[in-house]
Amino acid sequence: MGMLISMPAFSQTVEVPLHAAARVQYGADRVRKVLKPGWRVVVQVGNGASKEGFVIEVKNRVIDVRGDDASGALYGCLELAERIRSGALTADRPGAALTFSDRPEMPLRGACIGMQKPVLLPGRGPYEYPYTPQNFPWFYDKKLWTRYLDSMVDNRMNTLYLWNGHPFASLVRLPDYPYAVEVDDETFSRNEEMYRWLATEADRRGIWLIQLFYNIIVSKPFAEHNHIKTQDRSRHIEPLIADYTRKSISAFVAKYPNVGLMVTLGEAMEGVGQDDIDWFTKTILPGIKDGLKVLGRKDEPPVVLRAHDTDGPAVMKAALPVYGNLYVECKYNGEALTTYTPRGPWAELHRKLSSISKGLIENVHIMANLEPFRYGSPDFIQKCVQAMHNDYHASGLHLYPQASYWDWPYTADKVGAGTASGGGASRGPASGGAVATAGGPRLLEMDRDWIWYKAWARYAWNCHRNRGDEIVYWSRQLAGRYGCDEEHGKYILEAYEQSGEIAPKLLRRFGITDGNRQTLTLGMLMTQLIDPERYGLFSLLYDSEGPPGESLSQYAEKEWKKQSHEGETPVQVCDEVEEEGRRAVLAIVRAEDAVTRRRDEFGRLMNDMQCYKLLADCYAAKARAALAVLRYKYSGDIKDIQQAGSSLQLSLDMFRELARTADSGYLYANSMQTAQRKIPMRGVNGTYKTWGEMEPVYVKEFENFVGNLDSLVRGSGREEAPAAYRPTEVRVSGGRYEVEVGAKPFADSGMVIRKVASPLAGVKGVMQSARRQLLEGTEVSFTCKEPVDLLIGFFDEKRSMYLQPSQLETDASANDFGQADIKIADGVVVEGMPPVQVHAWSFPAGAHTLRLGKGLCLVLGFVKPLEKGKTYDAGLSEPGKKNLDWLFE
Ligand code: SER
Repeated sequence: MGMLISMPAFSQTVEVPLHAAARVQYGADRVRKVLKPGWRVVVQVGNGASKEGFVIEVKNRVIDVRGDDASGALYGCLELAERIRSGALTADRPGAALTFSDRPEMPLRGACIGMQKPVLLPGRGPYEYPYTPQNFPWFYDKKLWTRYLDSMVDNRMNTLYLWNGHPFASLVRLPDYPYAVEVDDETFSRNEEMYRWLATEADRRGIWLIQLFYNIIVSKPFAEHNHIKTQDRSRHIEPLIADYTRKSISAFVAKYPNVGLMVTLGEAMEGVGQDDIDWFTKTILPGIKDGLKVLGRKDEPPVVLRAHDTDGPAVMKAALPVYGNLYVECKYNGEALTTYTPRGPWAELHRKLSSISKGLIENVHIMANLEPFRYGSPDFIQKCVQAMHNDYHASGLHLYPQASYWDWPYTADKVGAGTASGGGASRGPASGGAVATAGGPRLLEMDRDWIWYKAWARYAWNCHRNRGDEIVYWSRQLAGRYGCDEEHGKYILEAYEQSGEIAPKLLRRFGITDGNRQTLTLGMLMTQLIDPERYGLFSLLYDSEGPPGESLSQYAEKEWKKQSHEGETPVQVCDEVEEEGRRAVLAIVRAEDAVTRRRDEFGRLMNDMQCYKLLADCYAAKARAALAVLRYKYSGDIKDIQQAGSSLQLSLDMFRELARTADSGYLYANSMQTAQRKIPMRGVNGTYKTWGEMEPVYVKEFENFVGNLDSLVRGSGREEAPAAYRPTEVRVSGGRYEVEVGAKPFADSGMVIRKVASPLAGVKGVMQSARRQLLEGTEVSFTCKEPVDLLIGFFDEKRSMYLQPSQLETDASANDFGQADIKIADGVVVEGMPPVQVHAWSFPAGAHTLRLGKGLCLVLGFVKPLEKGKTYDAGLSEPGKKNLDWLFE
């Protein structure tokens, strides 16, 4: 245990071992601040055989705090300080004896902060944000960091991750590539100082700083110097880039020895194949080892691999012989929060990753379905952490901010004059807690979302707490925060817990994707509800990220065929969320009059509960409208469509109300404001991020419906095929073929086109070698004198022999050329092959090369630029299929 040094402070003492770690001193200082005279505290640190646990023993005004290790001693001190502060342990009861011990269930409990912004910087790709005071003024604010780190240690979190595409060029200089640094000298020095300060201050609180980076991204000056792109998914590994990256990593490890690394292999490199395995084992891990060698270290500090957009098990298998101490981080419910009953292939992947790594860390990522409203259901969160242990075999948590990840440290709340603070709660002392920024006052996410952090951290420490005790605990927490009694605190808890079911249920039952390309709180178009496949339905959402259940179309089909329903049904969710919204509002209203503290904040919470209720009502009405439309497909009975109309009208009314309520409280719904946002509307140039912007879209949708109903009644309505695309000449190597019945699109295969959608008449395809596509991928080099769209046909079946369209869920560049949307669904029939979905890549005039991954596809040729965002369902392989999307467009 070592020698003890006594640090008398008045008549109380807190003694810590000589040369105790900084975190032990920090814990002791926290005790000193609250310890009453006449007491003696002796802090001891064990040999670290077990981790982070502690025992507190109180006997006759002498308190022993024994930590398993330095972190355990820190947590023991914090527990003691909290007990003294709350009056649970006082000097008034000198004879009181108590023994208390605790230790965490999850060894890694972390939070992350994005060194990211809501928009792309001019001339740069996703995640490319140099560390500068212009990009991140808050990064240089030590007071803000101190608050954040203090809140982390209060929650006993022990890891802090910073996310950035390529942080190295802001933090290290390489003798071989001095030109790669992308910040000026003064900023570089400030970065070095801030970064070291942050790592030290984190360590003082038992927190390990970890830097995340994406691959393959190089700095802008490096790219310009070498005439290459900063990132390019289709680029294979090149020796120059590998050398630069290896040296960057090595220099980083040597320079910041106390900072860990987390690696995203995906996105800017092909997620299937050998490249990412080679990149990890031959560039990244050797870079880390080089850095450790410089430090003279023989041990292997932990390295965290993200399973995002890569074959995690394959990469791990190849990497473990190179580096043993590998952890894996994997998304809990994609980029959303949908369930505490995860299952299916996603759960299997988690268990597999857990079994082959040092530990699996669960990434609660982005929360695209919770933004921007407040979320803090301890019940839901506790069950999620239980699922992390039981269903995923995880041992770590990696928590995103609850909202506004891309806009951290702020939230989307409107603050200042003239903004709603909700149902009459604006009386009483202002306690908004806003901070001044260049753009006006803003709320800090760490303050606003205190309950989010506290709940996840509490259950990461121990998820087996008794539910009855937890209700008491949280009721008291809320009562304390809002200055009311426990009974009213319980109503506030009820509001959080009722509302906490709504967004998860809505997304998992009606959503298109768990990814941040969908903003749930902005609603969904009717076509997205009745025809989600057209929008790139992400199937994991339905087969892994919710309880077993039925989609809208499955429900409609079973209803029509009089088959019994299974699991969670859309109708059940409509009923449940309406009830939960109603109860959430009722509960918060019941608490209102008892609130004496933070009334501004409480008003905002009330407004959020109202928003949740309206959101639930709006979705429920629209889902019922969708079910009626889907029923019409079977019944052909116009009464079904009329019923859809009244539900749609109700949904629109609810949305109008939501728009008024939510826009009064929020600057935006979603903090990612790039064109990667697709659902409900494409967010190009930062548009469609408020409810007010969506309202006319839903009004138009309703008007279209009313207008088109007439055609339907007269039996004349159907979707019109768009006019023929206008072919255009380009210079391209390779044989050509007319896209027409009888044509053979492959030079080395007899495959024949049997049907072609009318807009493709006259288009000239580029003949491919099927063998080459399968073994090497597709490459089309061409020169055009004017802007063109290049049409590619994907065979719609998930098999490795078919090229799969890139998904925005895993690849932020998947829409760089506008290629994410389907232009013609089921637009070509090739005999014996799956239906063909036609996508278009937009190119300006000039010389280009389009490279696609391995697998068969059709290169259908070049046309003049097409109208954006329009999809036509030709339905060639399903004659007689009724498509009713046109009713709403
Ligand atoms: N989709 C990106 C990722 O998973 C950003 O959230 O890294």
